[in-house]
Amino acid sequence: MNLRSIEIACPDAAGAARFLTEIWGLAPAEVRGATHYLRGSGSYPYLIAIAESDTPFVRSTTFTCTRERLASLAAGIAQAGLDARPVTSEDPGGGEGLIVELAEGELFRFLADSGEVAPIDGDDLPVKLTHCVFNAIDAEATGHLVEAALGFRVSDRTKGMVFVRCNESHHSTAFARAGIASLNHIAFEMRDTDAVMRGIGRLRDHGMVPAWGPGRHGPGSNVFAYFIAPFGGVVEFSTAVEKVPDDYPVGAPKDWTWPEGRIDQWGISDRDNAALRVAEERFRFRRDWEPAPLNPWMGAIA
Ligand SMILES: [Fe+2]
Repeated sequence: MNLRSIEIACPDAAGAARFLTEIWGLAPAEVRGATHYLRGSGSYPYLIAIAESDTPFVRSTTFTCTRERLASLAAGIAQAGLDARPVTSEDPGGGEGLIVELAEGELFRFLADSGEVAPIDGDDLPVKLTHCVFNAIDAEATGHLVEAALGFRVSDRTKGMVFVRCNESHHSTAFARAGIASLNHIAFEMRDTDAVMRGIGRLRDHGMVPAWGPGRHGPGSNVFAYFIAPFGGVVEFSTAVEKVPDDYPVGAPKDWTWPEGRIDQWGISDRDNAALRVAEERFRFRRDWEPAPLNPWMGAIA
């Protein structure tokens, strides 16, 4: 299973798409109606979809998987008693699967047989999403829920986060102990550390400085730089997170502490906590964009 894309909505979707293509570095993929689809250099048809809305919100987060995995997901979701329904994607790439609502309103979509596209060149293009992180009222409970219902695995727990993997990458998502349910940030995977650094330079050319970073994280060991995008959300340039074995020992908060005054492996980063907090609360979850209601799960995927 792989994280493929996130679907969001906000005011001035065209302006958000302009920032993400002309400055951040994504490539335009397609515009359908008022929804802008943007891609990276990899084989996914798009990484982020931005629809027009009066208020910002997260529509869904999309993973790709096999049909066999869909069947086991359906069983786990039924057992957990979550609301879900079958879905046929009308986004680029198509695909069929199911959409499920987690305990705090997060909509996760799982698609099989979704199409891919030819990769494109570009050292400074994000390759794909590396992770999407969400704020949670009860991050611990959500970590347990995605393990039980979706077959995800908790990789590490820190004072602030529960990191969760859906394949060998250390995390594709994480839930922050934030006391609120919202999008925390979207991380774009760059080809290497140089591409992260050049990305920081590109944003500096436009008068933007990182809200956190650059630095190197503990869990996942990725190089990072976070920015508050003009459309209001938090976006991250990241290198790939580390791959972990099946028997990776789940770390606890005491395993991930920093020396006094440090907040990353290198000890070089500063963090604008106040500005990030505001931006991390901006994109909430809404299910009413969904064209059909999600009912208590009634049956398995055919
Ligand atoms: Fe991140």
